[in-house]
Amino acid sequence: MTKKTRTKNAPTWGDHTKLVRGGLERTAFGETSEALFLNSGYVYDSPETAEKRFMGEDDGYVYGRYGNPTVSMFEERLALLEGAEACYGVASGMAAVFGALACQLKAGDHVVSSKALFGSCYQVITQILPRFGINHTLVDGGDLAAWKAAITPQTKCFFLETPSNPTLDVIDLAAVCEIGKAAGVNIIVDNIFATPILQKPLKFGADVIVYSGTKHMDGQGRVLGGAIVSTKKFKEDMLKPFLRHTGPSISPFNAWVLLKGLETMKLRVEAQSISAETVAQHLGATKVIARVIYPFLDSHPKMALAKKQMSMGGTMVTFEVEGGKAKAFDVLRRLRLVDISNNLGDAKSLMTHPASTTHRNIGPEARAMMGITDGMLRLSVGLEDIKDILDDVKQALAG
Ligand SMILES: Cc1ncc(COP(=O)(O)O)c(C=O)c1O
Repeated sequence: MTKKTRTKNAPTWGDHTKLVRGGLERTAFGETSEALFLNSGYVYDSPETAEKRFMGEDDGYVYGRYGNPTVSMFEERLALLEGAEACYGVASGMAAVFGALACQLKAGDHVVSSKALFGSCYQVITQILPRFGINHTLVDGGDLAAWKAAITPQTKCFFLETPSNPTLDVIDLAAVCEIGKAAGVNIIVDNIFATPILQKPLKFGADVIVYSGTKHMDGQGRVLGGAIVSTKKFKEDMLKPFLRHTGPSISPFNAWVLLKGLETMKLRVEAQSISAETVAQHLGATKVIARVIYPFLDSHPKMALAKKQMSMGGTMVTFEVEGGKAKAFDVLRRLRLVDISNNLGDAKSLMTHPASTTHRNIGPEARAMMGITDGMLRLSVGLEDIKDILDDVKQALAG
């Protein structure tokens, strides 16, 4: 690899430049696009070199589970965008969520988490971590007194999603981080719905940010991936010792797809957010809709807060139809352009019924506690022409 002399001024670049050029390291061949290093192992010119590498006394890679040059470019690009010291690429968003929690927790520890969570995040906190003796308290993310009251001497982490999947709850990042900091706990933010384009949780005091690269980073429904953004110290002391030995490594190919996806992420997320806001406004004026949830709509209870901590309202719109599951399924069946899919952040508009898909496993009680109803539908707004998206949603609802 050649030296990255041209990235010297990278921290002062704008987001578009960071996303196109951040972390770029060319080989001696001078390729324009980032190289894909599709290898699992590395060779050494002598046993002494191998030993030195393993001792950390010689720069260089030792094994695919420990690192890869393409993965490093992805990690550097994302860290640069976040204004963070470090990033660790992993196999999926859930590998990021579980890794960020498990790397720092042990039996007897306690986690405080917002209750409105993606189904698998809820399972990790309420079902999987307790099997290892790690306890939790779920709080209403908007109730600052509840965050404070839930802290015990054993509390090590706060975990929260904002906006949350699928109810688009917005949590006051600065206030919750202040409470966490005062108690000396690590604050982990799942920033998947907001994306690093629209919200930068580090600015509000978060310690660790988790991402599913599968969503907006790829943005074209191709690969799974994830990332954990943190300080260098957290990466060295917590993430590396845990992740290197437990093995949720991202494939170099997937990291390469995400790296290329990052180049256009700001353009896509901003265009999709403009369309999402238009769809939300339209749905807000439609009689058959019982409720529309979108962070930048006047009707959202936390609109002012959302506007303070997000630069746009995001690519996701959630709404509720009168008539429960049967009516929600009718709407899905009638779609002609928008696909039925539980993925999100894609160039293609996708709609899902959370109660029977992403949040099916958590059961009716947990769904009720999170405010997920049987008539709720979640729309991930894509890059199609807004007229076509609106026409499709209108005709599906009109039926
Ligand atoms: C809020 C949130 N966190 C985590 C994940 C998990 O990401 P992945 O599917 O890449 O594991 C998702 C996926 O939908 C999500 O919506």
